[in-house]
Amino acid sequence: MSAVLVTGIGELVTNDPGRGAPLGLVGSAALVAEGDRIAWVGPAAAAPAADRALDLAGRAVLPGFVDSHSHLVFAGDRAAEFAARMSGQPYDGGGIAATVAATRAATDAELRALLAARVAELAAQGTTTVEIKSGYGLDVEDEARLLRLAGEVTSETTYLGAHVVPAGRSREDYLRLVTGRMLAACAPLARWVDVFCEPASSHAFDQDEARAVLAAGRAAGLLPRVHANQLSAGPGVRLAVDVGAASADHCTYLAPADVDALAGSDTVATLLPGVEFSTRSPYPDARRLLDAGATVALATDCNPGTCFSSSMPFVVALAVREMGMTPAEAVSAATTGGARALRRPDIGVLRPGSRADLAVLDAPSYLHLAYRPGVPIARRLVLDG
Ligand code: NIG
Ligand code: FE
Repeated sequence: MSAVLVTGIGELVTNDPGRGAPLGLVGSAALVAEGDRIAWVGPAAAAPAADRALDLAGRAVLPGFVDSHSHLVFAGDRAAEFAARMSGQPYDGGGIAATVAATRAATDAELRALLAARVAELAAQGTTTVEIKSGYGLDVEDEARLLRLAGEVTSETTYLGAHVVPAGRSREDYLRLVTGRMLAACAPLARWVDVFCEPASSHAFDQDEARAVLAAGRAAGLLPRVHANQLSAGPGVRLAVDVGAASADHCTYLAPADVDALAGSDTVATLLPGVEFSTRSPYPDARRLLDAGATVALATDCNPGTCFSSSMPFVVALAVREMGMTPAEAVSAATTGGARALRRPDIGVLRPGSRADLAVLDAPSYLHLAYRPGVPIARRLVLDG
């Protein structure tokens, strides 16, 4: 296996706790990658020899972003719904039906091309791992189809048959399908099970329904995560903690008991500030979560309804400007936080043995991610070829 020595790293974010706060930074750094793994990390002056060398001329390097929440397999867009929201319409999930119709009507080839373009868009902005959910099929064949397509580009696939109750179906019938035949078809194609949990009367699933979905998914070998507290301080977060979900995502509206529950658990609070931006909602109280000791992740939620942005740098900038996170906290949440939300100790960190998933900045420091919002300074660093 050939080894590549990367030199000229002006600032290296390792996220290795052994290297100290913040972010396990190493100045004037180098690293060696062998195949898809990191073999060595440290000060450039101590770097070993390798087969090939790449000089980054003072640029900053960090672990590639881990986007732990997206809905990338869909057709159509909802720009008109977005425009209506900007003139005061609230978001209630009702628009999901339009994406379901467009997605069902698309061929595999069309969906594959749309997905490939979106994955390339993420990589061009420094993302190296993306989780992708189903949820725009809402029948057995289409949910399985979306997961099959997602599985072609990531191992982090999530069954979200319980996104909303499709038009024309009774809740009871649909819940039976989601926990029965649809689950049986989808479980072999997914790692995770997710549910959109809100108080009864919304398009989503109430506490008991959501619990049933997660229990059935777990019995089929899937690991739980939850769309929680997006539209109200509902039951989602506490359900997520109660079932030991890897992550409670959104956390837009949190009661004090939700913060306490997250802080006392292994469930990661995954914040999606692109959604608040695109739905004109209040931002989650990241400061309170961090100060309470919760683990926080940042992700895009890239989807046609609530946030059609694939940009982790944008999310980092929002987290700093709008949620009171420091640049170091935001970068940590977008890398190692996402890795924790996906239970992946092999990513989000750069140390010997971890995956050589790298992002490089056309800038001398990670601080520029928030300091230069909207400027395309980040991209995935490809070492082989
Ligand atoms: O994460 N909340 C539910 N699902 C998505 C939005 C889906 C849509 O509106 O198309 C979300 O925000
Ligand atoms: Fe989502």
